[in-house]
Formats: sequence, structure tokens, C-alpha cells
Amino acid sequence: MRIVYVVGTRPNFVKTAPVIAALRARLPEGRHALVHTGQHYDRLMSEVFLEELGVPAPDHLLEVGSGSHAQQTARVMERLEPVLTEERPDLVLVPGDVNSTLAAAVTAAKLQIPVGHIEAGLRSFDRTMPEELNRILTDQLSSHLFIHSPEAGENLRREGIAEEKVHFVGNTMIDMLVALEPRFRAAGAAERLGVQPGEFLLVTLHRPALVDGPLLPETIGRLAALGREMRVVFPVHPRTRKMMEAVESEHPGLLLSEPLGYLDFLSLLADSGAVLTDSGGIQEETTYLGIPCFTLRDNTERPVTVEAGTNTLLGLDPAAISTIPSSLKSSRKRPAQPPPFWDGKASQRIADVVAGAGQSG
Ligand code: UD1
Repeated sequence: MRIVYVVGTRPNFVKTAPVIAALRARLPEGRHALVHTGQHYDRLMSEVFLEELGVPAPDHLLEVGSGSHAQQTARVMERLEPVLTEERPDLVLVPGDVNSTLAAAVTAAKLQIPVGHIEAGLRSFDRTMPEELNRILTDQLSSHLFIHSPEAGENLRREGIAEEKVHFVGNTMIDMLVALEPRFRAAGAAERLGVQPGEFLLVTLHRPALVDGPLLPETIGRLAALGREMRVVFPVHPRTRKMMEAVESEHPGLLLSEPLGYLDFLSLLADSGAVLTDSGGIQEETTYLGIPCFTLRDNTERPVTVEAGTNTLLGLDPAAISTIPSSLKSSRKRPAQPPPFWDGKASQRIADVVAGAGQSG
């Protein structure tokens, strides 16, 4: 069996690394070719992750870089098509909801190569988010839809996707977290940054709706005010850094850093008192770890994290940041109770499905 895996961004690497490892072990005679589109390209956004996750060097680098949505998507399609023609895979596996995901799914489907979508079926029901369009279209083009929560299955059913294509396998991002747990527990990132475990707020923000407009300066102001009550640690995504250049961001109590490697980031996450984010993956990682998460968005495509009790939707409203200390005081700390199949074995379940399909096909 010949499989091509297409990744492009930081969270893609995390979601795909354990799937590559599981399929390589299950199908050692097969061809496993990794394509890196180059959507993320800075060392701190790309190589560091691949090294820490134990991902083999990519077989194909498309080097598409940044651009408008159409440019980025089109460049991946143009450069991936000859790679797929050369590799002749039986399956193309794509993770998540970024532009590289959609571009790879379209390219493969038009060459009549079956597509497997890792993390299928998530919906925010907000079509102003580019990721929502990427999710809907990728799911429509996929032959194998690997879902991590029952509501993802309901969303797909509503969109008319045949039941036999949908496989409830669990969360491959949590597979990676489970595999790295001994290492990130020993990494001591909080200590190195000079913050007390359990006492600080970890912040990540990068969504265009928040950082590309007037909400960003207000958010920084609110974080600076909160920094007088608890330390705030904020590793800054390059998109956000670019937009922050015009914003006053030096404040006591607000500790800004470059993007972190995955082990250091998970170490900080596990040691944080709470997290403020607009990321999807971090809503899931905090659910697994039992860390209170405040999501600065109007909606989430991951309602399972709200049901689990760890995630609170604050709305797309920087003023809500000031409610975090009182929410933390009034909420009872509860032990982490990960959703079903968020157990470190999702990639094995994907390997079962793919290896089974290979035999029957
Ligand atoms: C992308 C995904 C988003 C995902 C996020 C994870 C889309 C539409 N968006 O958003 O869903 O949550 O990745 O991080 O696919 N840049 C650098 N260096 C890099 C990468 C980006 O400086 O290595 C800067 C560039 O100025 C670029 C901007 O960040 O224009 C945005 O990068 P892009 O890949 O377009 O989107 P993200 O915001 O990273």
C-alpha cells in the first residue's frame, strides 16, 4: 500500500506524527511519503516541531509560504499534483482544517485518489472562518472520515455523508500528548521562565477575527491589567507578532516570548493555572489535562471540551478577560475526565481502518 501524508502547519504536524508512526509499524512494506507544503516555514513554527515529534524528514517540500487564501491554496494544488502523479498513492491522508488540508484534498480527489481526513466533522457553524470552509469541503471530498467525538458524526450525517465512510477513532493530537507526557513533565519550562507552577495564565491568540483588527490593542490592554493580579505568559504567533508591532506591548506582569517548541509549550500548559486561547487544539489539550481554558471566541467547533467542563467560551470580547480571576476562584477544580477514545490509541484505530481497507481493496 502506498500512502501520502500532507502537512503544512504546526498543529498538522502534531495530529499526523502518531498516525505516520502507527501506519509505518502496521504496514512496514508500504510506501509512506510525507509532503510538507511549507505553509508554516519559520524554524520555530516547523523544523523544531518535526524534530521533537520524531517525524521523519519530509520526502517532498512544496515551499508555498504565506499569501492570500487563494494564492496559498492554489500554490499547494499546483505543486502537489506532480508529486501525487509520481507517488501514485492508494490513499492521501490530510489532517485538520488549514488551507493546505483543503488544497491537498481537492488535488487528490481530482486525480481520483481516495482521501482520508483526520479530525473530520468539526463545525463551528461560522462560515466567516476560513477553517470552516476548509472543513466542510474537505469532508465532502473524503472517502475515510476519522472523527474524534460523536457530534462530529452527527454533523457529517446532517451533510449527507454516508455512514460507512465515518470512523470514530478518537483524538490523534491526544495520542501525541500521551506519548510526550514523560518528556514534557520533566521539561521545567515554567521554572526557566521564572513563573510559579499553577500561578500563571498562559495565552495564545492568532485568529484573524481577533488579531487582525481593533480587538488586538484592547486585548493587550486587558492582559496588562490582568498581569497585575497574576503573571501572564504569552508566546506570540508570527501573525500576531506582525500585528502587534504597532501596539504598546511592554507591560510588567505580561511576559511575551517567541513561539515555543512543543515540549516547552506542553510543559507550560500542564503547569499553568489557566489558559486563554483562540486555538482549537489547545481547547482539547486542556480538556485532557484538566486545566481551565477560557476561549476568546463566539463559538467553538469543539463543544465536547465545553461539555467536559474545562472550556468556557468568553465570546469575542476582550472585556471578558477581566472575569477570569473570579471565575477561577469560584470554580471547583475537578479531575481531568477525557472524552471517550482520547486515550493515546486513536492512531492505532486509524491504522486498523486503513490496513483493513488496503486488504479488501
Ligand atoms: C494557520 C491556519 C489556522 C491554524 C494556524 C495554526 C489557515 C487558513 N489558517 O493560520 O487555521 O489555526 O495556522 O498556527 O490555514 N507566518 C510567519 N512564519 C510562518 C508562518 C506564518 O511569519 O512560519 C506569518 C506570515 O506573516 C503569514 C501569517 O503568519 O502571512 C499567517 O500565516 P498563515 O499560514 O497564512 O496562517 P496562520 O495564521 O498561521
